[in-house]
Amino acid sequence: MTDAPRRYHITTFGCQMNKADSERMAGILEEMGFQWSDTPDQAELILYNTCTIRDNAEQKVYSYLGRQARRKHEQPDLTLIVAGCVAQQEGEALLRRVPELDLVMGPQHANRLQELLEQVFNGNQIAATEPVHIFEDITKPRRDSTVTAWVNVIYGCNERCTYCVVPNVRGVEQSRSPEAIRAEMEELGRQGFKEVTLLGQNIDAYGRDLPGSTADGRHLHTLTDLLYFVHDVPGIERIRFATSHPRYFTERLIRACAELPKVCEHFHIPFQSGNNDILKAMSRGYTRERYLRIIDTVRRYMPDASISADAIVGFPGETEAQFEDTMQLVEAIGFDQLNTAAYSPRPGTPAALWDNQLSEDVKSDRLQRLNHLVSIKAAERSQRYHGRVEEVLIEQQNSKDPQQVMGRTRGNRLTFCTGAIAELQGKLLPVRITDIRAFSLTGERVDQPPTIESVHLAGAGVD
Ligand code: SAH
Ligand code: SF4
Ligand code: F3S
Repeated sequence: MTDAPRRYHITTFGCQMNKADSERMAGILEEMGFQWSDTPDQAELILYNTCTIRDNAEQKVYSYLGRQARRKHEQPDLTLIVAGCVAQQEGEALLRRVPELDLVMGPQHANRLQELLEQVFNGNQIAATEPVHIFEDITKPRRDSTVTAWVNVIYGCNERCTYCVVPNVRGVEQSRSPEAIRAEMEELGRQGFKEVTLLGQNIDAYGRDLPGSTADGRHLHTLTDLLYFVHDVPGIERIRFATSHPRYFTERLIRACAELPKVCEHFHIPFQSGNNDILKAMSRGYTRERYLRIIDTVRRYMPDASISADAIVGFPGETEAQFEDTMQLVEAIGFDQLNTAAYSPRPGTPAALWDNQLSEDVKSDRLQRLNHLVSIKAAERSQRYHGRVEEVLIEQQNSKDPQQVMGRTRGNRLTFCTGAIAELQGKLLPVRITDIRAFSLTGERVDQPPTIESVHLAGAGVD
């Protein structure tokens, strides 16, 4: 490979799963001798790791691609790759649409990047989208942070929510073994990482494809068991996990989170809609009442827990009254954060074919009203932090103010305080919260660690 290109750039769209895949693909490229380039225009290998969850995410890719495809006419040794979910969805059609592309590769093929690139350098144009068993990756990811890290625990999704492309593009569920997950976390601990987020599209499904069951018929490997299994990894101080599905979220899991000190009191549990008929049409497999019960149970065990979620407005057939049920649920629960989206019909999903689609005007009006409510509720939730001493894990410098560093509370609130990153990066600092905004906080360093009393006293006045 003497004449192989040397600099690479990866642009990542979409969710945490894609971010984790990009870090692994970057690791593979560096192992092959490529060097990171900050700007795509100076790179000889460009990889777009794409998302197709909504139409606007997909369209973004085509506009980026067009520019690089034109560049390839002047620079024929440019290597152009589309990876991720658009690659999986479009497959060979993408090679026909953008003939300048060298490689189209679905998410299940991320670990095979080296082998696929060798075929490209031998003069082939390739679409790798057939379903495969995902092998353990032996190369080291090039991680964006030195403090927090993603660790995949389950790939794919076996649900069939009627609006969602993920099962089509990410394939069936494949859990990694608890030993492989623990080994990755131990390595992270040795390297000085402090926080791990365990990842899966439907993380509560972890282990159901692994062999073995207990005497009472339960799967031997569940997310709860995994948390107990990895909890004492040396060096790792905080553990998070995402994304949870209300259908499988158990009290046993909630109890484990309350019991295990490293597991942070933050839960991302998308509800999608507050109306039972819409939930049914979405094939979500739970009711509004069950969702409310889950949140009640979480708060019974951990009164201060942060709750975030995803919601869709304007699903086919959603009436104004059904939308109001979503608003009312948001009002009642008071989320710390909510990702909202207008429904977008996706290829290959059942709901896209229904004839009761709503107009873009109705969808965007509902989205605006929901977003307005979300920021009011998030600001209310932020209030409980005022005056409290929170444990903040310092990640980076504040990009807008070099005098400040930024980190997160255990509840996942972005927090800023004065300090030098060289001294504080990776430290768990007690910070007294002085300024409150809807989605972030500012505070000052204090000497004493946060006490249980101060947390409870401050929390008591709010809920
Ligand atoms: N596995 C997670 C979410 C995966 S996709 C879950 O089950 O909740 C991330 C979010 O994108 C979803 O929670 C949903 O709110 C949103 N989403 C998915 N498909 C969508 C579509 N067709 N239109 C609008 N939003 C969508
Ligand atoms: Fe999509 Fe539903 Fe799977 Fe989540 S659980 S990834 S929304 S199909
Ligand atoms: Fe997007 Fe694929 Fe994630 S469609 S949201 S990048 S699983």
